[in-house]
Amino acid sequence: MKLKGLLTLKDLSTKSIMDIISYSLDIKNGLSVSYSNKRFATLFFENSTRTHYSFIMALKKLGIDVIDCNVGVSSVQKGESLYDTIKTFESIGVDGVVVRHTKDEYFKELEGINIPVFNGGDGKSNHPTQSLLDLMTIYEEYGKFEGLKCCIIGDISHSRVAHTNIEVMERLGMEVYISGPEEFNDGSAKYLDLDTAIEEMDVIMLLRVQFERHTESMSMTKEEYHSRYGLTMDKVEKMKENAIILHPAPFNREVEIASSVVECSKSRIFKQMTNGVYVRMASISMVLDGKL
Ligand code: CP
Repeated sequence: MKLKGLLTLKDLSTKSIMDIISYSLDIKNGLSVSYSNKRFATLFFENSTRTHYSFIMALKKLGIDVIDCNVGVSSVQKGESLYDTIKTFESIGVDGVVVRHTKDEYFKELEGINIPVFNGGDGKSNHPTQSLLDLMTIYEEYGKFEGLKCCIIGDISHSRVAHTNIEVMERLGMEVYISGPEEFNDGSAKYLDLDTAIEEMDVIMLLRVQFERHTESMSMTKEEYHSRYGLTMDKVEKMKENAIILHPAPFNREVEIASSVVECSKSRIFKQMTNGVYVRMASISMVLDGKL
């Protein structure tokens, strides 16, 4: 039987994606949804602040009991597999799990799990709820996707956020480009020089330089990166009047983004975090109701 839940946006039609955004907006605008008889477990095999605690907040707001599994003191440390760990939670009566894992497409090993799995990020491949919250934030701004131009700038090759967004944004009719250091250009979208991107895009999406994923040192210092590719206020002033800045966070202040830009008038970075709770509530609700 096919694994249930929200694993990758590639499994979802554009209609389903628009339905999640619309339902997220309904919940943000006050729609009450409750599943007080359900219990979920969260299993984070990689560090996280936003995704982990935003999922917990979403579950609590839905009235769902949460077991926050500390994998560092679990039997994972004795060599128990991911499948066996999740099967254990299923066996003790959990109704769904949220999982982040370093392994790309870890969920392909979970055939035989009968409870829904919500992907909080896998390796460099998928981060479905991050992309949904990015899309919700763009939709709140523009009321559409068709024809909008977005450039994703920075550490593209190590980024599940970039890879997830490029695929889904193109399907929704957006023009998507990448920019930043050539060493991070993996060809996943058309490359645009930074000055053109700054002046012509509706959405500038910055990425954290993911030093912890690098197998080789970056070819430039953090200071050089900031001066060549970092978003500074002088660059922000060249953006289109209604253009917005997104960043999945955490951000490296004074590397890919100047501290003064983080909360400037074009930044929607903290609004993205707020919207994350709503897209997670909507996704969990739709899966439990059999609508996804
Ligand atoms: N954006 C994001 O995934 O942040 P965390 O790694 O803190 O969850």
